[in-house]
Amino acid sequence: MNGMTRYTILVPIVLFALSGCTAAKQDILTAADLNNPVKCLGGPLPGLTPEEVRKFHVGEVLFKKEFTPEEGLGPLFNGKSCFECHGQPMVSGGEGRDLSSTSILNYARRVEGSAKSKLPLKEVIQDLGKPDVDFFLTRGGPSLQRRSVTTEFPNKFAFENHLDFEQIPLEAELQSNRHSPPIFGDGLIDCIPDGDIAAQGVQESMENPALAGRQISAVDRYTESARAARFGWKNQHINLFNFTTGAMNIEMGLTTFAAHTENSTEPLGDNPDFLRIANKAGSPNDKGKILLALAWYQSLLAPAPRGPITPEVTKGEAVFKKLDCAFCHRPTWKTASECIFADPEGKLPETKQVRVKALESQTFSPYTDLLVHDMGPELADGIPQEGAKGGEWRTTPLWGLRFKKFLLHDGRTRDLHTAITMHGGQSSESAQAYKKLTPEDKNALLAFLKSL
Ligand code: HEC
Ligand code: HEC
Repeated sequence: MNGMTRYTILVPIVLFALSGCTAAKQDILTAADLNNPVKCLGGPLPGLTPEEVRKFHVGEVLFKKEFTPEEGLGPLFNGKSCFECHGQPMVSGGEGRDLSSTSILNYARRVEGSAKSKLPLKEVIQDLGKPDVDFFLTRGGPSLQRRSVTTEFPNKFAFENHLDFEQIPLEAELQSNRHSPPIFGDGLIDCIPDGDIAAQGVQESMENPALAGRQISAVDRYTESARAARFGWKNQHINLFNFTTGAMNIEMGLTTFAAHTENSTEPLGDNPDFLRIANKAGSPNDKGKILLALAWYQSLLAPAPRGPITPEVTKGEAVFKKLDCAFCHRPTWKTASECIFADPEGKLPETKQVRVKALESQTFSPYTDLLVHDMGPELADGIPQEGAKGGEWRTTPLWGLRFKKFLLHDGRTRDLHTAITMHGGQSSESAQAYKKLTPEDKNALLAFLKSL
């Protein structure tokens, strides 16, 4: 499978902003529906063809589907469906009902005997890069799988064939909880030309080196070429296709061509239960149909609609700019003039590339620069991923903020004020300036954030 997505540099001809989204099913949308969250959240982008919408709903069903061991789930996993962790307040949101069940945990330790392992952790935590860290790869790392098919499906596996779920090794000094983000509108981010993200990095370093973020490159696992990363808390993935490949494998134990080994360190041996079930699932578990349908669905999700823009919200937006929040949380981006995705119904193993016109040349407002910034020791988790270091995080897109319950990478707070005051490192000055705001300006800023 080659070149899942390919973009050309944009030529701005027609500028038009996304104004809303289509109704949840194939209903015809009226103007009054355009900013109706009940109809928009989790629904497809406006302007799609009926065929594109039909394929969107095929992927949506798979996103909600609970997989079984016979279909490839496990043997170790974190969720039976994508929906389980991306389901609140609507399918493809982040959240989940509570924090613990929808978070994933990454763990590691410093490489034994290395220079950085000899210093107190807090002195080096922000600086740890990949070569400094041991991810326990031979013991199930870097990501914890909390559940096992033998426990969850006791009627399918004999008692003596029990498989233990993973435990965090005692030596894992670095542990990082990650909260599940919403996926609304991510196809637009997917379709930003690489060059524009690189240009953002260059522009920031010229404008204000102290605040400037770093552009992260990651390898496309299908073409093996380096591209501008844009997804994940540490900017570890280049597109939805790659992210979905990893999510299927790591969170659900579903293997695909590009991720064909089960994410389990326990030898499954030749016991008849596992063999019988593995034979039904086939190898890889998914020949590509599920992956393509899931990637298509997520790429065509509409962004969350904006709330009412009152005079206070407009005032708050000015405060947001004045405090340099907008330096990192860059308001608008534009997609490429040509957005190409793999047709979920094309014949495999070759993929059929098709254009999705509704995504092309769109101006939209995710409020992120798609770069990583050092956010200081309080927020650092010490776990490097791709080019991002232990203290660096991708500027979180703020669109859809009003539909989020848990904030920051580990969901540690539900309070906007706390999320802002926790900003350290490169964003310290911004947070300090926030603390000094008059109550009126502070309220306006919060009103603006709650309108996103
Ligand atoms: C056990 C919970 C869980 C399950 C199951 C799960 N995810 Fe996630 N998902 C997460 C977490 C946590 C993150 C953040 C990971 C990170 O960046 O470190 C995430 C991130 C993502 C992102 C990145 C979004 C962004 O804007 O950066 C995508 C896309 C995604 N998941 C798709 C899927 C798909 C598709 C499935 C099903 C095949 C799935 N996830 C299953 C918890 C889960
Ligand atoms: C130097 C870059 C930078 C600046 C300046 C900055 N932020 Fe952030 N912001 C980030 C990063 C990176 C994160 C992710 C941190 C994490 O999750 O650990 C973040 C997270 C957030 C979140 C949490 C979002 C969520 O869904 O979890 C909010 C809210 C936020 N910022 C608002 C603001 C406001 C308001 C300002 C201005 C006072 C501001 N930021 C200034 C980079 C920045």
